[in-house]
Amino acid sequence: MTDHIPDELSVVGKDPRAYTDPLRPLHGIVRNAQGEWVLLRHALVVQAALDHERFSNAVSSHLQIPNGLDGDEHTAYRAALDVFLDGEALAPFHERFRRVAAELLAALPRGVAVDAVSQLGARYAVRAQSVWLSWPADLEERLVAWVAENHAATRSGDRARTQRVAQSFDDIIRTVLDHCRATAREHDADNVTARLMRTEVNGKPLSEAQIVSVLRNWTGGDLGSMALCVGVLLHHLATQPALQSRLRAPGVPDAEFDAVIDEILRIDDPFVSNRRVTTCPVTIGGVALPEGARVKLNWTSANRDEAVFGDADAMDAQRNAPHNLVYGIGKHVCPGRLLATLQMRILLRELLAATSSIALDAQQPAERAVSPVGGWAKLPVVLG
Ligand code: HEM
Repeated sequence: MTDHIPDELSVVGKDPRAYTDPLRPLHGIVRNAQGEWVLLRHALVVQAALDHERFSNAVSSHLQIPNGLDGDEHTAYRAALDVFLDGEALAPFHERFRRVAAELLAALPRGVAVDAVSQLGARYAVRAQSVWLSWPADLEERLVAWVAENHAATRSGDRARTQRVAQSFDDIIRTVLDHCRATAREHDADNVTARLMRTEVNGKPLSEAQIVSVLRNWTGGDLGSMALCVGVLLHHLATQPALQSRLRAPGVPDAEFDAVIDEILRIDDPFVSNRRVTTCPVTIGGVALPEGARVKLNWTSANRDEAVFGDADAMDAQRNAPHNLVYGIGKHVCPGRLLATLQMRILLRELLAATSSIALDAQQPAERAVSPVGGWAKLPVVLG
């Protein structure tokens, strides 16, 4: 354990992996410049994520449903909301996501560089989520611009800017809710947003603020994460010709695609961390934390812990799957895993079917994102 991080191991301006890889063998837990305790090792991240009573999710003064809730209240909201994201609920969207991917790929140029993150990942995420939620297609430019601004605000570390961006997302959501009310009688429309507007928890309908919060959590963080995940996946495909040709072969089952996607994201997890706050004094990793300590579960680091995975960069989907933390663990485990995996698998299948090659652009270098964001900021690829 260290009380402060030495300058040469500072997080500033670094890929989160370059920051945590050298620290993790030395320290399971470190304190960052903001005074937060960052858990770096797999065992410690799992320990905190499973200890819901002592590591609370009530980390923000803003309404966050369901992420900011604890205990029975959290369980009740998850039960009401998870049904929107299960296999049965998502079945009607497979073909629609496929069409979104096919149309987007057909419009991308061949033989010249395209940015896998902004031109493919962010566009696809926005269009696929808009289809899922039945949001108007003319919101696309506003949402794409929002993903880019949210990314820039997170990177800047400027809290006021981050709050302004969060507020602007709420304004977009309120426009959608007004549109939904104006175009369909709320009680009749059979789409995800309209059904959410009629959802009840413990016999009470969700308030407008709660609906906005749920939609923010279903889209706000996710659009950016999806764009980053697509960048990470394409980098692996472009730099690993053997993997690319294996997945191009006819008849690769869905389960194999999903396992490869999970394993690539484990190696380079762009969804870096989530926060907790201690509800009482807790000792973790040999460090005594007081009540009220702010703690970060660093998934990116835990997913590369040599104590669990050996060589973190070696792909072994089958062996590593049981320890994979890309979607978290415990009560707050990601409810959107199925949707995210489905959207990524469909995009990859369509991409491989629509191209004969995917390569990094020889002229423009790819750019890593820097902490607190993971993955690639820019990934110029050439589709053949
Ligand atoms: C793009 C890939 C995604 C990744 C890597 C990811 C990752 C995660 C992780 C690690 C957590 C655990 C948070 C914690 O323990 O504090 C989480 C929670 C959550 N995710 Fe995802 N997620 C993704 C996509 C999605 C999608 C598509 C949705 C919904 C449409 C979604 C909705 C949520 C919500 C609502 C929570 C909070 C759950 C709770 O606190 O009970 N995520 N996600």
